[in-house]
Amino acid sequence: MIVCKSKREIELMRKAGRIVADALEIANEIAKKGMTTETLNRKLEKYVLQKGGIPVFKGYRGYPKSICTSINEEIVHGIPSQRKLRDGDILSVDIGVEYNKYVADAAITIPIGVISKGAENLLNVCEETLNKAIETICANNRLSEVSRSIQNYVESKGFSVIRDYTGHGIGRKMHEAPQIPNFVNKELLKSDEILLQGMALAIEPMICVGKHYTEVLKNRWTVVTRDRKLSAHFEHTVVVTENGADILTV
Ligand code: MF3
Ligand code: CO
Repeated sequence: MIVCKSKREIELMRKAGRIVADALEIANEIAKKGMTTETLNRKLEKYVLQKGGIPVFKGYRGYPKSICTSINEEIVHGIPSQRKLRDGDILSVDIGVEYNKYVADAAITIPIGVISKGAENLLNVCEETLNKAIETICANNRLSEVSRSIQNYVESKGFSVIRDYTGHGIGRKMHEAPQIPNFVNKELLKSDEILLQGMALAIEPMICVGKHYTEVLKNRWTVVTRDRKLSAHFEHTVVVTENGADILTV
């Protein structure tokens, strides 16, 4: 069941979203070659706590850190470590924050130093994909329209959509119904939910240069492309309104 949020709940989610957005802006400013992803984790965790938020990833199914840092062929759930960022890397930073019992979740992919033209194109397309998907959101539209928009745009640019991981409803918990695949399949069309005012959704296209197949590394978290080609990830938490989407993670 998809739970619609009240005005009051949405304002609490907006506070969580603001902390998430500011943390990502900090990540974007400070992520540089030579910095370890653990340093980034520590700094963002400190920022979130200082703002009165709780980093919700930490402890989620045993996940050990406050943010996810996924580099290059890593798609999602990369664990911060002593690995140093290098010139030319693309770094996805994903963060979820709870504030007064409500959660917001967002991600960006950051270029480190000078990146290849191909990588730059991948990042631009992924961010545009998210923005276009958000533009399809409006009360009374169907959920599949969001998924279709993502798949069509990504494939029109010659990239692939990751199929093994999805966006999700969000609110009192980080993951709520519905699942939001980034492509259209039979299962999605069977339930095809009508979007209602007050539904809160985390939209998160994960796209890649090569084939969409994924693999989980031995650490049991980090998801990589099987062909080890580059992947990017952008995410926003939004609320459905009568005349569009209200983005909470800005
Ligand atoms: N932002 C991700 C999601 O929406 C990842 C969280 S997984 C965690 O599913 F384990 F790191 F928390
Ligand atoms: Co998410």
